[in-house]
Amino acid sequence: MSAQAHALAKSRYDDATTATFAADVLSGLTAQPKRLPPKYFYDATGSALFEEITRLPEYYPTRTELGILGERSAEIAALIPNGAALIEFGAGATTKARLLLASGAFGAYVPVDISGEFLNAQASQLRADLPELPVYPVTADFTASFVLPKPVQAMPKAGFFPGSTIGNFEPHEAALFLRSIRAILGRDAWLIVGVDLEKDERILAAAYNDAAGVTARFDLNLLARINHELGGTFDLDAFRHRAIYNRERHRIEMHLISRKAQEVRVEGRRIAFHDGETIHTENSYKYSLERFATLARGAGWTPHASWTDRDVTFSVHALRAG
Ligand code: AVJ
Repeated sequence: MSAQAHALAKSRYDDATTATFAADVLSGLTAQPKRLPPKYFYDATGSALFEEITRLPEYYPTRTELGILGERSAEIAALIPNGAALIEFGAGATTKARLLLASGAFGAYVPVDISGEFLNAQASQLRADLPELPVYPVTADFTASFVLPKPVQAMPKAGFFPGSTIGNFEPHEAALFLRSIRAILGRDAWLIVGVDLEKDERILAAAYNDAAGVTARFDLNLLARINHELGGTFDLDAFRHRAIYNRERHRIEMHLISRKAQEVRVEGRRIAFHDGETIHTENSYKYSLERFATLARGAGWTPHASWTDRDVTFSVHALRAG
């Protein structure tokens, strides 16, 4: 493709992406109660803020999962056939994949992420560090169906879905997602998935209402993104972040709460807020080992093994297709 054709294709792609973002934002903000999809947290600023969250003292999931993978990577990699492609859904930083890649004989690494810029930077870094490993980044919304790069289609496949990102889905959506991954990966595939576990509510609440306010900035950045990309008029100081644990539904909920009655414009539409009205921005479901295994079984996967930290706060599951 010529540089000009490439630029045109890219701008069309960006236009389509912006149009989807706009449609999702307007439908969420005109719904009752108001909501916004968490997948839009991850623009460049949001991705950087999320990396900062993973280093917070209160945010236990990342370091706990890294601990499990660090201890068990050889055991996990031994399940997966030599020459398999490792396909990571929603790859942010490649830190976790590197642990598996270093422990097995993988034929390729395919990070799939909606945030193309961050993804390509991570891919170049990985190529520099592991020159033998073919890396095929795919810029896609991994919640939609996408096509695997040609060179990996004939390889055995192992999906990798760490970080408890699966917790962002409603349980029935999580099941549909597991089913669609199974369709993308095909027969005999493996799936290694990280799942956050239920625990003391005070630990959960602290992890999503950190003292330094980084999670609040991460949540509010969604409004900043709407301002930049959709000509929104959100005053970030007129909303506050709050996370609560919903015990009946086994989930942390993140909300942006309007500090006053106000009107905001987005894409030329007027959105009214009353004082205290919330925008529900994220669910983070917490599972028990058994509830997750049951969910996976119902979605066409056979739970093969699972690992946790000593305190059983986070889990990594190996599932087999079929
Ligand atoms: C990336 C979805 C796993 O739910 O813990 C962290 C996102 N939100 N702090 C999570 C998040 C607020 C995170 N996931």
